[in-house]
Amino acid sequence: PEDIRVYEFAEACGKSAAEVITVLFGLGMMVTKNDFLKQDELEILGEEFGIEVTVKDALEDANYVEEYQEEEIDDSNFVTRPPVVTIMGHVDHGKTSLLDKIRESKVAAGEAGGITQHISSYTVEKDGQKITFVDTPGHAAFSEMRSRGADITDIIIIVVAADDGVKQQTEEVISHAKASGCPIIVAMNKIDKEAANPDMVKAQMAERDMTPVDWGGETEFIGVSALTGEGIDDLLENILLQSEILELKADPEAKAKAAVVEASLEKGRGPVATVIVQNGTLKVGDNIVCDTTYGRVKAITDDNGKPIKELGLSETGTVLGLNDIPVSGSVMVVQDSDKEARDIATKRAEHARAKELSKSTKVSLEEMSGLI
Ligand code: GTP
Ligand code: MG
Repeated sequence: PEDIRVYEFAEACGKSAAEVITVLFGLGMMVTKNDFLKQDELEILGEEFGIEVTVKDALEDANYVEEYQEEEIDDSNFVTRPPVVTIMGHVDHGKTSLLDKIRESKVAAGEAGGITQHISSYTVEKDGQKITFVDTPGHAAFSEMRSRGADITDIIIIVVAADDGVKQQTEEVISHAKASGCPIIVAMNKIDKEAANPDMVKAQMAERDMTPVDWGGETEFIGVSALTGEGIDDLLENILLQSEILELKADPEAKAKAAVVEASLEKGRGPVATVIVQNGTLKVGDNIVCDTTYGRVKAITDDNGKPIKELGLSETGTVLGLNDIPVSGSVMVVQDSDKEARDIATKRAEHARAKELSKSTKVSLEEMSGLI
């Protein structure tokens, strides 16, 4: 519903703000005249004053554009898209090393070396099929992405060091992974080590309801070594198999929508956002809005830092051209015009500011009443 403040509501129905506040106060609702009224408060006031309150359907909240965009999706152009795989696991169990090894064997020699990378998502190719990987610094980041609505992950890989077994963060990751409903593959890493004990890992995981396929369960366990590269082909093949079962589809012709994995301010480049395309094709020149930020795509670089013209389904790259740094987990959406993108971002920013303001007035009032 369109937001309306207490004093605006009072004006609209010929009452004073004090009368409105008194009614709500009588029902234990603390508001000030600048607060926005919630739907239930509006209903109560309508009854109290004997007026009919119609709630207009307008900019609901920050999710407006995403919801709007979702309605527009037409599945007649759907094609198979690559899987997005999130790697999780206990500290030092080898998530980053594993990803490095996967890239090393798949990225042409010379491209990979020497470039400092901050981004933690990569698109690799296996037998002509693409896979996008996301290296999570911790499961907190993963949960945050989800809570912000950017549900990017299709498949989860839980890395467990075969010489160390299930640890506290492995446990946490297991519960996050289960809650996500994504298929899970267990990568038992460091099998090159003398002390590696894959059976121990399997037993520990089985105790947590993740029984290996070869023990009659449903979870794939693959022994790998980020050091020697052993098992990595197996892992990739398994990912592609899972992906096939999932029948992941999206529309390359749709207005692009991409989730922000990471964003920062880079010297000489301005705000940059690393994204994964969830639908459509993101192109240089597109007008974009992303949470309360907006802009036009000035340049896109792939995960090797190489400039490219566009990003396809499930692909990852870094986008230049936003007017500010967007929050991780927000969703970038292409708009028809520069004006549209700016208007939406501005509305959202105002909305966010007003909410923040009304929160702080409320808090200070409550603090004051506590003093009296
Ligand atoms: P965080 O990002 O800190 O959670 O760690 P991580 O899970 O990304 O682990 P990382 O890849 O940084 O590896 C931790 C250590 O384990 C490093 O010293 C790696 O060299 C070592 N390591 C990783 N994989 C293997 C492996 O397969 N075999 C052996 N022998 N060592 C490995
Ligand atoms: Mg790491």
